[in-house]
Amino acid sequence: MDIARTPSNPDGNIEMADAAMQPHDPPEIRREDYRPFPWLVPDTRLDFELGLDSTRVRSRLTVVRNAKADKSPTIRLNGDGITATRVKVDGEPTSAFTMDGDDIVLTLPGDAHEIAIETEIDPASNSQLMGLYASNGMLCTQCESEGFRRITFFPDRPDVLSTYTVRMSGPKAQFPILLCNGNRVATGEEGADHWAEWHDPWPKPSYLFALVAGDLVANTDSFTTMNGRKVELNVWVREGDLERTQHAMDSLKRSMKWDEEAFGREYDLDLFNIVAVSDFNMGAMENKGLNVFNTKYVLADPDTATDGDFDAVEGVIGHEYFHNWSGNRITCRDWFQLSLKEGFTVLRDQLFSQDMGSAPVKRIEDVRILRSAQFPEDSGPLAHPIRPDSYREISNFYTATVYNKGAEVIRMMRTMAGEERFRQGTDLYFDRHDGEAATCEDFVKSIEDGVGLDLTQFRLWYSQAGTPKVTVDLSHEGDEAVLKLGQTVPETPGQPLKQPMPIPLKVALFDRASGKHSGEQLVVLDKASAEYRFQGFAEKPVLSINRGFSAPVTVERSIPREELVFLAARDDDPFARYEAMQDLMVGHLVAAVGGTLSDDERRGGREDIAEAMRAILTDAKLDDLMRGELMIMPSQTYIAEQMDVSDPGRIHTEREALKAELGSRLSAEMHALYDRAEKIPFSLEAEAKGARKVKTLVLTYAAASDPAKAAELAASQYERADNMTDRQGALMVLTGLEGVERTNKLLDFYNRYRGNALVVDKWFALQASSLHPGVVEHVKALAEHPDFTLRNPNRVRSLYMAFAANPHGFHAPDGEGYRMIGDLILALDPINAQTAARFVPPLGRWRRIEPGRAAMMREQLERIAEAPKLSRDTFEQVTRSLG
Ligand code: PHE
Ligand code: ZN
Repeated sequence: MDIARTPSNPDGNIEMADAAMQPHDPPEIRREDYRPFPWLVPDTRLDFELGLDSTRVRSRLTVVRNAKADKSPTIRLNGDGITATRVKVDGEPTSAFTMDGDDIVLTLPGDAHEIAIETEIDPASNSQLMGLYASNGMLCTQCESEGFRRITFFPDRPDVLSTYTVRMSGPKAQFPILLCNGNRVATGEEGADHWAEWHDPWPKPSYLFALVAGDLVANTDSFTTMNGRKVELNVWVREGDLERTQHAMDSLKRSMKWDEEAFGREYDLDLFNIVAVSDFNMGAMENKGLNVFNTKYVLADPDTATDGDFDAVEGVIGHEYFHNWSGNRITCRDWFQLSLKEGFTVLRDQLFSQDMGSAPVKRIEDVRILRSAQFPEDSGPLAHPIRPDSYREISNFYTATVYNKGAEVIRMMRTMAGEERFRQGTDLYFDRHDGEAATCEDFVKSIEDGVGLDLTQFRLWYSQAGTPKVTVDLSHEGDEAVLKLGQTVPETPGQPLKQPMPIPLKVALFDRASGKHSGEQLVVLDKASAEYRFQGFAEKPVLSINRGFSAPVTVERSIPREELVFLAARDDDPFARYEAMQDLMVGHLVAAVGGTLSDDERRGGREDIAEAMRAILTDAKLDDLMRGELMIMPSQTYIAEQMDVSDPGRIHTEREALKAELGSRLSAEMHALYDRAEKIPFSLEAEAKGARKVKTLVLTYAAASDPAKAAELAASQYERADNMTDRQGALMVLTGLEGVERTNKLLDFYNRYRGNALVVDKWFALQASSLHPGVVEHVKALAEHPDFTLRNPNRVRSLYMAFAANPHGFHAPDGEGYRMIGDLILALDPINAQTAARFVPPLGRWRRIEPGRAAMMREQLERIAEAPKLSRDTFEQVTRSLG
């Protein structure tokens, strides 16, 4: 969630808060300490008497000794902030237990027992959104990673697999729909109450348990699997949202079909339910047969969702569906193995989206996400390997590293194996480990055996953190091109020394005269340095390297600017072409920010970039979706990432100046492009999506070069828009400008969509991410808006995550942006610790920022660290960031 996905008044009333509060140093959990659980839990029965303020949970677990584990006289049942109103063993009340913190430790004399426990919980006051909670009058659960222990006492660890039978009952009027994992096996009524019993035939860990009760309606359809089994599909939403569910349903059916074709995976129940919930910490959750989604990744129609939103819905629906095999049928032994399911499933959803739309555009988008979210993580205080060695709070490890770099690591195996042989590896993995709680090592071994590839050294990608740096030097001797490559893996916290890793690099050598190359080759750099020779070059060729982004590394090539211009205009690998364009701009901006450019050099650099951009704007062979990618300037974060220490203010100034220059130099080409694109009528086809993308990009360049003209164009695009993509794009540009149209259109947008939470989120986010000089004051005012609340994670993220990701606001020279995020973290921590902790990393980048700002960022971290009661989540992130 996706990875990664997610308030003015911190107004009081925080009941469940204490459960998550940890006054001092929470213990460190280490991967090497893993031991199998001494008990098996073959069977779990749960009975829920549902109520918003009070839900009674009765559990009955059959437990038998695990022959494969050390024998223990006791069984530990995890709890978190709950109390047992009754504990029985083999039908008799017992007092043969102790409390260890929040856990129950029961003494069990024999080899097989039945444990019965009763708890009573209060979903309405559960603001952490973990365990059983209330959202808009409905009840739902979130158990990954350790939420089940907030519902009942249980061995809440992913290697304890159990078969669940669940009875749920409650007032029929309040909860007309009762859903759980698996199949509904019985229903009934008792006065005003009704009940349903569900059975899930597939043994699962507790984190995959889910229950939903509420007033919901469904978009219902079916899918017939490759073996002819008919599966009922439902997308459950609140009454008014039904008309926005068709895209989710279509995406689900495409996912099911794709997984059969691409990975040979068939769905394994007769029913698949998706429920949309508006209060949700993450993007979505793959509970067996009952996926729970953030509304943001379900609801979409052209009036309220952008093209980007449509794509995200398809991607996340795919992601959660694919978890049914990579995550559920084969789950994780322990949470250190998280990338086993997440890295692999992200790769699977990326490949799915590549197949559903434009593969090169999807690849570029995925690389952009990696570079803006994962690279900074890998080069900062929170750097960790895709398989971490220790944690204090596992929620903090649902990161871009585990998800996105995890996907890149598996993608490299696929690149080295080739697609077909890679499939033999995944077939073997699914076959060998079906029904198990597996490890990353199990996955690598399966690929190794299935493909016939030695991955001994490759395993370093699982244990070493940090983005490798590859140096490139191409020379020419006689008729040979000589490619010298070097690699270093930077030092990261706890890992001062690194070993060279196998880095698969796709390369091509272009003949200057013909503009062609004679085939792409795969070079695997597995030493600190190596030399490769290519024959048959009368003159020195132009090197295209890391094509398709075959390895998640940074490439340092000292390549003349004219070669980048050459590649930006004609590289046949779309990613490499994009890369050349980015390199051209990044190289120029880094030099400009560093103050090393003479006026002549500055002029020359801008001229080259403008010429390359002109070629892109006018290349008739490019489709507009791809043209849009090539037009996007490198982000401020990515530029900063190229420097050891950077000044956000200077980067912003130089970047805006380049944008303005390109906008004015290429004004004719850009407006011609705009006029052409504007004539293409709305549809969800690639051509029309591309047209919308380039239109708004032209507006962003115009906003920098000719604000008055841009405002006029944007206002007119806004007024004529028949879809959210055009409307939001225009409003985004207006929000960054001064003037009456800004106020008018922001007001219009709000009035038009008030009451639609997802669109109001956009309204908050647009203002928080704007280039307007008053952005800090705007965000402060928005925090006081009646629609703002700290209790809804989407709303919190729409205002504050957008702001923290806006360098222009967050890095305000007086430190006000840092103080606002500091205040937010402190106010949000007792309400929703998971979400609060996600705001720490932006402050944690202080070491890479110029000293004046760095001191103010640190000051906020120290202020947070000194707070009397901090959650485990925030405590861990703050201490690591200061460390
Ligand atoms: N497992 C979910 C996914 O990636 C993400 C998630 C984690 C959701 C923790 C909720 C809580 O698909
Ligand atoms: Zn996932």
